[in-house]
Amino acid sequence: MTPFAQLPSADGVWTNLRLAPEALGEASTAVDDAAIVVQNGHIVWVGERRALPADHAHAPQHNGRHALVTPGLIDCHTHLVYGGQRANEFAMRLAGASYEEVARAGGGIVSSVRATRAASEDDLFALAAPRLQALLNEGVCAIEIKSGYGLSLEHERAQLRVARRLGEHFGVTVRTTFLGAHALPPEYVGRSQAYIDTVCHQMMPALAAEGLIDAVDVFCETIGFSLAETEQVFRAAQALGLPVKLHAEQLSDMGGSALAARYGALSCDHIEHLSEAGIAAMKQAGTVAVLLPGAYYFLRDTHLPPIAALRAAGVPMAVSTDHNPGTSPTLSLLLMLNMACTLFRMTVPEAVAGVTRHAARALGLQHSHGQIAVGQPANFVLWPLGEVAELAYWLGQHPQPTVVRQGRITSAIYPPAPLRVTPQGAALAVWPSQPGGAPGSGT
Ligand code: NIG
Ligand code: FE
Repeated sequence: MTPFAQLPSADGVWTNLRLAPEALGEASTAVDDAAIVVQNGHIVWVGERRALPADHAHAPQHNGRHALVTPGLIDCHTHLVYGGQRANEFAMRLAGASYEEVARAGGGIVSSVRATRAASEDDLFALAAPRLQALLNEGVCAIEIKSGYGLSLEHERAQLRVARRLGEHFGVTVRTTFLGAHALPPEYVGRSQAYIDTVCHQMMPALAAEGLIDAVDVFCETIGFSLAETEQVFRAAQALGLPVKLHAEQLSDMGGSALAARYGALSCDHIEHLSEAGIAAMKQAGTVAVLLPGAYYFLRDTHLPPIAALRAAGVPMAVSTDHNPGTSPTLSLLLMLNMACTLFRMTVPEAVAGVTRHAARALGLQHSHGQIAVGQPANFVLWPLGEVAELAYWLGQHPQPTVVRQGRITSAIYPPAPLRVTPQGAALAVWPSQPGGAPGSGT
């Protein structure tokens, strides 16, 4: 594989682009004939092609071939680094066991902890790299990666170090989240408070001092940690100046979201059982609702998150894979767009904002990611698609986009797949897209 730093530069003038609605920020409309200028890996101009300043005429030219352009996608909730897999639990649940019953029987998160602890950092990297590559191939340009399968200082450190290494190796923005309070490790059974003390006073300060933590998360649930324990973790995070987020109201309404909102949480995630009070608290705090249709689907959940109420309250909604070996073993953010629409009744524009603008906000990255804006790193995706609804419409079909990530042309498909314009004016991708020349070869 070509090292990231040796991939072709995206610097130059990109023309023949159709900008998707909201690509330029909230409420921006589609632009049919757009241009983007990239300099030193950053966007320095974007707008209608006819307004393109002449002084860029001598820069390298990139022909977008009428592609549909969105900001780089953002997967704002993943547990990407772990050992093993849990297909056996899938079979148990198909035979009638619930997620809680599997967890209480010694399976669940703790079984991934065993496999993760047994793996070296190199093993964990080798396992996570193809997972990350699959997400990147679909246009992901920023990703959150949680710890939470180590549950000791040494093993949480290993997970977080691997997350950082993945970011460097693949040239992708990685935000690390410390999820030490994901489950009670076997050596602390019956001593929950002692474990929370270790998380707050040993693990979190040490890992923060090593620069490994961008945010702190807790699994607040009957089979996870209580509201009081969650608050202790939030206090410790606050003392270290770290933002918080929460796995909240997934299986029951514990009131975790309202607590998280009081700590100014970046996001509350899952929230199938979120109450009106929780919604109001999130709205007031500006906390993002992160919706995870993969886990809802995979657990065959039937309790829908309160989408209509979140929409009515104006709470920003993000959508993510929640990739993990227990409840959401998916590596397709586009499939999550489809599920957000079909299962959760989100609209296509809501779902697309959910993997761009609002996902950026869920990670505190709203000033550098999630839209195509001057001054930001060049992260954008050229889709060989006629309209934005196709992002959510094709089911399990890979659209093979051209991806510009951190100022480099990273996809194998360059120049972008050509589109055919019908007499009606609709643009159709030519399937399958041609493999194109070598990256950087043509315009
Ligand atoms: O987001 N619910 C807690 N955490 C993960 C599942 C972890 C696991 O089962 O391994 C989630 O769904
Ligand atoms: Fe999760």
